[in-house]
Amino acid sequence: MSGALLPRFPFQRSGFAPPAEYAVFRDRAPVTRVRMADGAAAWLVTSHDLVRQVLSDPRFSTNPLTPGYPAVTLGRVDLLKAEVPQTFIRLDPPKHTEVRRMFTREFTFARVNEMKPRIEAVVGRLLDAIEQRGAPADFFGDFAVPFPTTVTSGFLGIPEADHLFFQERSRTRVALDLGPDAPIEAARQMRARIEAILIARLAATEDRADLIGRMLADYVVPGTMTLDEAAATLELFMMAGHETTANMLTLGLLSLLIDPRGLGALAEGESAVRNAVEEMLRYHSIVQYNGLRAALEDADIGGVAIRKGDGVIALINAANRDPAMFPDPDRFDPTRDATGHLGFSYGPHQCLGQGLARLEMRVAFAELARRMPRMRLAVGVDELVFRYGSLVHGVDRLPIAW
Ligand code: HEM
Repeated sequence: MSGALLPRFPFQRSGFAPPAEYAVFRDRAPVTRVRMADGAAAWLVTSHDLVRQVLSDPRFSTNPLTPGYPAVTLGRVDLLKAEVPQTFIRLDPPKHTEVRRMFTREFTFARVNEMKPRIEAVVGRLLDAIEQRGAPADFFGDFAVPFPTTVTSGFLGIPEADHLFFQERSRTRVALDLGPDAPIEAARQMRARIEAILIARLAATEDRADLIGRMLADYVVPGTMTLDEAAATLELFMMAGHETTANMLTLGLLSLLIDPRGLGALAEGESAVRNAVEEMLRYHSIVQYNGLRAALEDADIGGVAIRKGDGVIALINAANRDPAMFPDPDRFDPTRDATGHLGFSYGPHQCLGQGLARLEMRVAFAELARRMPRMRLAVGVDELVFRYGSLVHGVDRLPIAW
């Protein structure tokens, strides 16, 4: 299907706001055709109900090798196709179900809650260091990046000496403005380092203190999972837990600081923090181009006939601004009930780490509000540089004073 005359996806966004086209399409035609980087047409889905419908429908494949898979950039498709084996976020059932099920035990409510003291300790340590150095601090670099990296790496079993290596490569890997070579090379280096870590740990598989230890002992040694598959899975956990949480914390804090209520909005206690965190997830929906799918069969979505082999983009950040679901959706309101948002996606590929991400955000914001209630931006909002050329939305620096 040629798409020469269609609007070209992705569209330009501005600051917090998603591209203006999303609201226009949602209003006029929530399933609409756009042109992708390779010139092919794809269906862009922008309403909350239809995005959910696509994301939970097994007729839409998430595997980039499926014909019709939409190309956000040419480099991105090359990167995804080069990944062998694919991480399970890009697998369809039954293989996806099988691999995901092996790790659900790691993310249960009880398991995540056991991590709370450690999460609190990491938050405390980073805020101590910020206070000792004095204002201004860069919230993104001094807190939002090292915090989830330290928590996730400890839980997975990634040595501390490797943190910077993985932070830098994760950032390059999700960049869309570097051309195809740099993200592919970053991904290759990550996979190689992860394999080296796994091989080193194979010598001591009785150590089940972290996820790597349990994965090796329970799946790799008995032969249910190859070392390659274990490396792919570990890479997914690292990628999924680094950039996402760091940028959610940063944009979340920024939106609180420019709200007249400031961090004081969280002073009312635990339920105020919970509400604000859900609203941050809804409002920012930082994973910009998720929900890329290819139709395995003909399907009707919202009265539109989608053909086998068509590309589909079910955008959670458009769904999260749907006025039919969230009144006055472009207003950040930390007191609103944002239940039903799709910030962690929906359906079988819904974020496996959402319990951990929520706990990290709740602990961080409660402690920030307690220790630094008068926190403010140390620069004007117009001086902040938003990162547009990345799969994950954010700012690279957030100068704060308190
Ligand atoms: C605030 C932080 C986070 C946000 C906003 C977020 C968001 C998302 C989204 C939107 C997806 C679906 C992507 C797609 O379909 O293309 C996803 C999947 C996933 N996330 Fe998260 N995530 C966060 C933190 C984490 C953390 C901390 C972990 C674990 C360490 C994690 C692990 C995963 C995994 C494993 C998947 C793939 C699930 C599957 O395909 O079955 N995420 N996440």
